[in-house]
Amino acid sequence: MDKERKLIIAGNWKCNKTVAEALVLVGDLKRELAPVKEVDIVCCPPFTALDAVSKAILDSNIRLGAQNMGENGLGAFTGEVAAGMLKEFSVGYVILGHSERRQFQKESDALIAKKAAAAHAANIIPIVCVGETLAEREAGITNAVVETQLKGSLTGLTSEQVERTVVAYEPVWAIGTGKTATTAQAQEVHAFLRKVIGTLHGDTVARRVRIQYGGSVKPNNARELMSQPDVDGALVGGASLEVRSFADIIKNSI
Ligand code: PGA
Repeated sequence: MDKERKLIIAGNWKCNKTVAEALVLVGDLKRELAPVKEVDIVCCPPFTALDAVSKAILDSNIRLGAQNMGENGLGAFTGEVAAGMLKEFSVGYVILGHSERRQFQKESDALIAKKAAAAHAANIIPIVCVGETLAEREAGITNAVVETQLKGSLTGLTSEQVERTVVAYEPVWAIGTGKTATTAQAQEVHAFLRKVIGTLHGDTVARRVRIQYGGSVKPNNARELMSQPDVDGALVGGASLEVRSFADIIKNSI
């Protein structure tokens, strides 16, 4: 596929996989995906498997991501994991503001922006998630919702940092439900998000920033989604837990 931006496909394992299971999966993925050069491939295991997966993918084209991090550095922050700790395991990416964290941990755009700044300061690329609920889509306020989320979650970042940030558009109603946004719905929101970034940071940044789609991405819909001009990859949940489906999503996207 001929795009100015390199595709980035990330597996969000969520709260799944023991260390032993994680090693089986990345071992299989390494074999399956070794020839792939056209896509940046990222696996985001739970914190408990970062060490093992980090060592297992050392000699591969798979990069490591975390699913969250604390907005502060080291200190009296019980239960938090700081960016510097993630760097110990060569973490290159961190998912921030996933809708599950917005919903269950009540994460705000302002908090996500602080985390994004901390990630950049540690040279970790944030994958910043935005997306509307079904009620918001039905109320016709999708663009307003994702614009507020995007602007709020990127507040304080320099244009250079925004350019390196990955944005993930994940309609909440499509996550884990088997309902995918139509390619037209995805493209429309992606183009809108790119326009918002252009307004804030100029055309060059907007042209370079990568925007992933997430929400029930599967091998059979990946090609069509990735063929949209403003869709630059995928954030995959359920289908990233099995070698066959994750590998096929990547192969079908090329
Ligand atoms: P899903 O999850 O692929 O299982 O819908 C996507 C996500 O939550 O990142």
